[in-house]
Amino acid sequence: MELGELEQTLVLIKPDALKVSLTGYILSQFSEFHTGLRFAGAKIVHVSRMIAEEHYAEHKGKGFYPALIEYITGRLHYPSEPRWRRVVALVYCGPGAVKKIRQIAGPTNPHVAREQAPGTIRTMGTVVPIRDDQGQVVGERMDNLVHASACDADAEREIKLWFKPNDIMPYMQAYPTETCDQHYYLKDGRLLDRYEPHSVCLVAPGDTAWKSDLEALRRLYREEPAGCALEAVIAKYLINEARESA
Ligand code: RTP
Ligand code: MG
Repeated sequence: MELGELEQTLVLIKPDALKVSLTGYILSQFSEFHTGLRFAGAKIVHVSRMIAEEHYAEHKGKGFYPALIEYITGRLHYPSEPRWRRVVALVYCGPGAVKKIRQIAGPTNPHVAREQAPGTIRTMGTVVPIRDDQGQVVGERMDNLVHASACDADAEREIKLWFKPNDIMPYMQAYPTETCDQHYYLKDGRLLDRYEPHSVCLVAPGDTAWKSDLEALRRLYREEPAGCALEAVIAKYLINEARESA
């Protein structure tokens, strides 16, 4: 799809940035004044393990992955205060959105950012050693304040992971949508087509959903291969849902 004016990128202001109150600074660095980009969507999210693991699925199996999940879910920066564990999730829209935001964010490693990209946001991050049970250093965690999509394909996957179509202004919905014609509920990790006690309603007839989500839900409901995990589709419907966000 040719995106042009509708090119979009996902930004997460991570828990370390919230902890030291850099939110306003980061928003001003990414502002229309600096980037020419416009907000298309914004929400405060208590990051569940489900959405964290889907967001960083490409890193599963790497040494730093468990620490990365602890970091993005806010457990590291708010160990005894679950109520403060959150990120700000934002969609920015406009030509060159992915590249412009990545440039202002800076290199992944804050040490590299300080050496090679002065002025970028991640120069203010930290690198923390990861230790095993014996206290040996086995890797490092990069607390780098912001996430920014790396390419258009990642941006589409990530925006659809964190946002429903109607979380985004109608003129700025970049990806195909479809009106849902049936109910889908979730109970104990299973999809249902009718309500059962203690189930959560994901979508109902008349709801606008990402077309790709409805295609996946139809296949997953029939237990056919859907090309993605159930969690990748349902995570956005469970955002800030007290019953599912542990
Ligand atoms: P992000 O996805 O958070 O925007 O970061 P990125 O594209 O610049 O870097 P990526 O390779 O996608 O890594 C995702 C996050 O994992 C942590 N990381 N640690 N110890 C390491 O070698 C390492 N590499 C990556 C960072 O927190 C990074 O933001
Ligand atoms: Mg990345």
